[in-house]
Amino acid sequence: MQIITDPAEMQATAEKMRLQHQFTGVVMTMGALHEGHLNLVRMAREKAGTVIMTIFVNPKQFGPNEDFHRYPRPFEQDAALARSAGIDYLFAPQAELVYPEACTTTIDPGPIATRFEGACRPGHFSGVATVVVKLLGITRPHFAVFGEKDAQQLAVIRRVVADLNIGVSILGAPITRERDGLATSSRNIYLSSDERQQASVLYRAILHAEEAVTSGRRDLETIAAETETLIRAEPDAVPDYLCFVNDSTFETSSLATPGNAYRLVMAVQIGTTRLIDNWRFECR
Ligand code: PAJ
Repeated sequence: MQIITDPAEMQATAEKMRLQHQFTGVVMTMGALHEGHLNLVRMAREKAGTVIMTIFVNPKQFGPNEDFHRYPRPFEQDAALARSAGIDYLFAPQAELVYPEACTTTIDPGPIATRFEGACRPGHFSGVATVVVKLLGITRPHFAVFGEKDAQQLAVIRRVVADLNIGVSILGAPITRERDGLATSSRNIYLSSDERQQASVLYRAILHAEEAVTSGRRDLETIAAETETLIRAEPDAVPDYLCFVNDSTFETSSLATPGNAYRLVMAVQIGTTRLIDNWRFECR
């Protein structure tokens, strides 16, 4: 595995691979790698001859009161994990090289970026879209894999890549979960052991919604309200939002109609840690 820190060098290397007709995939991360990230790598490895991983804690997607400075950065450990997962190139640039002073362009993905995570975290998806487009330009892959754990992020990236005719396939990978169903996340380490136990309520909430929908119910608004009550039963759990949405536009849906895909999306504050999760289903 080759480690590259200079965007110009990464871009030149990627360009060379293109000329040699190598089929390449990229997995973008902010590091603090866990099983969720490694499953994206496995998916990329199955499809590509060359897999690039990026590790970059992108300052532009954090709000002023968010965890940018305390976000974990265990680089040596990440590099070892990336190497054993079969990464060919690890691109880990310094922020000054990604955003030199002259760089003033930002991407506005439109309405999809203003709802849910976008409403709770103003500017977040503009920061994500901008860095993703930059990293696609630097690494020049044929495809990029993103996790369904961040379903709205995935929908925003699909929108941006389609709208700007970027010509890279965007693949979604299923959510990796812990034994009790909690979605694996770099932020889970912020939870105390009591909070960690309470955090499994997000998955229990998903199971409740799944059971309701599987039994034939279509009243999404009522199912969402019941699910929210279940979450609030935990002493330290406070939902930011919990809602069924149309899976591609992220517009709120109160009733499921056959032939459409929906997603239950939620963000829940457990103590001082904010967790997100989601579940997709197709109404038949
Ligand atoms: P990060 O949170 O490090 O996540 C990197 C990728 O791993 C994302 O595509 C995310 O959806 C995926 N991922 C994380 N946990 C997962 C899980 N439990 N199951 C499946 N996939 C999971 O998301 C970002 O970084 C950044 O916003 C980034 C796209 C790199 C842009 O800065």
